[in-house]
Amino acid sequence: MLNINQIDQWRKNRLPFFLEEETASTNADCRVYAEEYDGDFVFLAEKQTAGRGRRGRDFYSPDHGFYFSMCVNAVTGKEILYTLVCAVAAAEALEGCGQHTEIKWVNDLYQNGKKASGILCEAIRSPEDFSLKKVIIGIGINVSEDPFPEELQNKAVRLEGVDRNKLGALLSDSILKWLHAPEEELLKEYKRRSFLIGREVVYELNGKEKCGTVRDINDKGNLIVQTPEGTDILSSGEISLKEWK
Ligand code: BTN
Repeated sequence: MLNINQIDQWRKNRLPFFLEEETASTNADCRVYAEEYDGDFVFLAEKQTAGRGRRGRDFYSPDHGFYFSMCVNAVTGKEILYTLVCAVAAAEALEGCGQHTEIKWVNDLYQNGKKASGILCEAIRSPEDFSLKKVIIGIGINVSEDPFPEELQNKAVRLEGVDRNKLGALLSDSILKWLHAPEEELLKEYKRRSFLIGREVVYELNGKEKCGTVRDINDKGNLIVQTPEGTDILSSGEISLKEWK
């Protein structure tokens, strides 16, 4: 079970940390609580009934899982870095719990070719000038023992034997550490943990399916892909390895 005393034994930070047996979405909980509390804080749930994924998808969130959201005050001009911070921090925290994962650009974590974790960052903006006020960093990690629905069975992996209290603690510390780390170090660590560099990938650009080799990730977190026609610089989108097709 999630337990705040155990979490406190592992973590260095002392942010408000709320545990929930069941909720609709920890990202949604952060958005509500941010209206009354101005500092950084965390929600961690056992189960979500309306877990949100990227691109408006649902995120499968069965019981005894790991559904974590941290709300942080925004550091101006660093919007792009949140994505990199989340992926690096989640991979590092999982490593501390005995699990090796790799980053699939932009911010999915994979183990043996299957997705182990998904990340959804959401912005809270000023109603007056639309400037970025806070960022909600939502991370779901597949640790529940419930079987995956059929459509996820070949795509997702369950990480076994993870101490969820330790993971919550290490993840919150790691996010704070990487949010304040020099950008060059963050980028270096992101690349070190990424598995797309040097691989052949398939993606869609301007409505056209394309194929190329990933050459690098630049300092804006963009993927640099070499194709027979030239170089594509991707800032977002879905990428597959050619060998998966
Ligand atoms: C994705 O892979 O599409 C992103 C999934 C993000 C899921 C996490 S679970 C905790 C937080 N609460 C949500 O509703 N979503 C994020």
